[in-house]
Amino acid sequence: MNPEIAEQDLAEPYLGGLLASLGLNVHYSRAEKDTLFFRDDTGHEVPVLDLVGGYGSTILGHSNPEIVGYAKELLDGGVPVHAQFSKHPYANELAQKVNAVIRREFGTDEPYSAIFANSGAEAVEIAMKHAEFDRVARLAELAGEIDENIEQARAAAAGGAALARGAAYDRLAAAGGVAAGAPLDEVIAGIRRANAPRLAAPPVFLAPEGSFHGKLVGSVQLTHNPGFRTPFSSLAAQCRFVAVHEPDALAKTIESVRRTVFDLAVDGGAVRVVERGLPAVAAFVLEPVQGEAGIRVFDRETAERIRQACAAAGIPIVVDEVQSGMGRTGAFFASSHLGLQGDYITLAKSLGGGVAKAAVTLVRGSRYRKEFELVHSSTFAKDAFSTSIAVRTVDLLEADGGRAYRLAAERGSRLADMLRGLQREFGTVVKDVRGKGLMLGLEFHDQSDSASEVIAGQARTGLLGYLLSGYLLRVHALRILPTASAVNTLRLEPSVHFTDAETDRLEAGLRGLLTVLRDQNGAAFLPTGPAGESAH
Ligand code: F0G
Repeated sequence: MNPEIAEQDLAEPYLGGLLASLGLNVHYSRAEKDTLFFRDDTGHEVPVLDLVGGYGSTILGHSNPEIVGYAKELLDGGVPVHAQFSKHPYANELAQKVNAVIRREFGTDEPYSAIFANSGAEAVEIAMKHAEFDRVARLAELAGEIDENIEQARAAAAGGAALARGAAYDRLAAAGGVAAGAPLDEVIAGIRRANAPRLAAPPVFLAPEGSFHGKLVGSVQLTHNPGFRTPFSSLAAQCRFVAVHEPDALAKTIESVRRTVFDLAVDGGAVRVVERGLPAVAAFVLEPVQGEAGIRVFDRETAERIRQACAAAGIPIVVDEVQSGMGRTGAFFASSHLGLQGDYITLAKSLGGGVAKAAVTLVRGSRYRKEFELVHSSTFAKDAFSTSIAVRTVDLLEADGGRAYRLAAERGSRLADMLRGLQREFGTVVKDVRGKGLMLGLEFHDQSDSASEVIAGQARTGLLGYLLSGYLLRVHALRILPTASAVNTLRLEPSVHFTDAETDRLEAGLRGLLTVLRDQNGAAFLPTGPAGESAH
């Protein structure tokens, strides 16, 4: 190969440059529990305490020995990774185990069918796709009913029933171009003309403001951050983002997207034009704890309001547990704390035990359309390796009467107490500490008016969080990243094995960072050290 090309960085070269400028371009060569290791220039292995945890994928720690041992066993035994279109008992075992957890945490007997995927965004898109499949089927049923009603109206008219006028007739006249006093056949043609585009119109999705559900073509439309979403708006169905904490907001949004079709009804010897609602909203999609929005925990009251509004309008709820699920918040499903049982539930990230790429979409039995299985598949999904690893991961979480959930709650509250202590000590710098279990956020006050040009400049471009990450890594060997859509919030998602000693180490590093920020000591953030800019 041309040596010049060989030297070029071709794997996301722009991002590589950005990481370098922030001091984050470290090549980690080994991972264990909550530590990642890199080798310094002398070849010495340097441990870095990892609070990113694969963006929430390592609830059981990096390279968990039981998972790694099982993975080796599977591979040594020649596990058939590729045996598509055959029987997959391990996939069924996973579905059964997750269903047992659903029964326990939600107190329901209704089974959920499982559809498998490879990533969080894919699991979300399966929910979107199934919800649309279901909506289209319901629209077809509605169109069939209208056809039947039209036939009944024709028969009634043949028997002498008159065509009555009313408000719906007048709206049809306006929408369908039917002239006043037109005969029934023309009215029927007008109904078909007016209904066709309404039945064919794309669906609307609803989601709370701040939502993040992935970056594929469909899921990115459910991701509120306009930087991620708007360049691709014309590629997929649109989402309306709702200020769900305002009591009337959801009901108003549902009303604003309401669509109707025209139908005919025979009553009291007359044929009448009537209007019927159609399912315009494919689904309401939410995270029980918003991750990318800066770790924002839903409250029970808001969840109940959403449940009621969606039930009244017949809208299915997709609960995205990709980040919050798998025990992280002290229960397998974060939504179980809210008493919010989704019609769809998505899992990914930690489902793969920190080793495999695994994701699943669970669909409530009463919503499930089995024909979906014939129109959806993926080469890699449901393979024996990832599914078996997921089974073992669920087993490890469930072991000892759910010890992992108790650990998540207890380790999480220890961490949160420590962070709240820092908030009291550095109130001018720390704005808020939020979260549940091992999904925590530490929010800083806006620094764009900082006396330090380095701090203010990065804050204005939205990169302050990453600047802080670079500092924590370089000076304190801590790996902590901000949430991408709430850039003043650092997120902490360690494993259930995070120790007291690690909490103390984290506290010392964060105290160092907060001291630098309180003193507006921008020079400390420059990789070259104090020779650079100084705030004073
Ligand atoms: N849903 C939620 C709630 C997520 O947090 C993510 C990813 C996804 C879906 C998409 O999953 O990356 O496997 O396709 N969150 C990452 C994060 C990117 O930074 O928290 P994916």
